[in-house]
Amino acid sequence: MKVTMVLVSSLNGKITRNDDTNINLWTSKEDAKFFSLLRDKHKLIVMGRKTYTSIHDKIKLQPDKLRVVLTKNPAKYSNHAKSGMLEFTNENPTKLLKRLESKGYKNCLLVGGSEITALFLQSSLIDEIYLTIEPKIFGKGRSMLAEDNFEIQLKFISAKKLNSQGTLLLKYKVQK
Ligand SMILES: NC(=O)c1ccc[n+]([C@@H]2O[C@H](COP(=O)([O-])OP(=O)(O)OC[C@H]3O[C@@H](n4cnc5c(N)ncnc54)[C@H](OP(=O)(O)O)[C@@H]3O)[C@@H](O)[C@H]2O)c1
Repeated sequence: MKVTMVLVSSLNGKITRNDDTNINLWTSKEDAKFFSLLRDKHKLIVMGRKTYTSIHDKIKLQPDKLRVVLTKNPAKYSNHAKSGMLEFTNENPTKLLKRLESKGYKNCLLVGGSEITALFLQSSLIDEIYLTIEPKIFGKGRSMLAEDNFEIQLKFISAKKLNSQGTLLLKYKVQK
């Protein structure tokens, strides 16, 4: 399974502005467009439960797209689940990807947040990274990655300036 991680952050590595969970209030429309295109290309999207909580009212479930939400308490969200479109699980990420691969999924888009991204990185499950840097600095906010004990080597693939303010889209490949 090829896993692509995508995040947008401030220059100083914050993926939220203060305690606000709505990232659309500070991210650029060019990044939103890039994210929509990437999301549309993937039939499998994985996220942490807190990310799900912050976007669930905006998610449009589709029969050809499976969204998987990691939570330690899947039963709590059973009334949100929709067969083949939205699942809640506490499987470990390696087993989860193996199971989904056996169902025919070849590509996975990991959309955050910081806890789940760190969990996948720590288990060496991520193959490529898209990181948008918005030209902003936030004194307070959620750090891009929850702190944990891991080190990942990357290879730079590309950098693209998305707008005149200087929003940068960076692409890296994970060295395994
Ligand atoms: N800027 C961006 O690109 C971007 C992207 C995504 C999200 N965000 C923002 O980031 C925030 C969310 O990020 P976050 O780091 O706080 O949370 P998160 O990574 O989205 O979700 C954390 C949750 O995942 C579940 N979890 C963690 N470890 C697990 C494990 N080993 N097995 C099963 N489930 C596990 C737990 O859910 P339970 O508590 O239910 O057990 C935990 O509370 C939101 O405010 C969102 O808006 C920003």
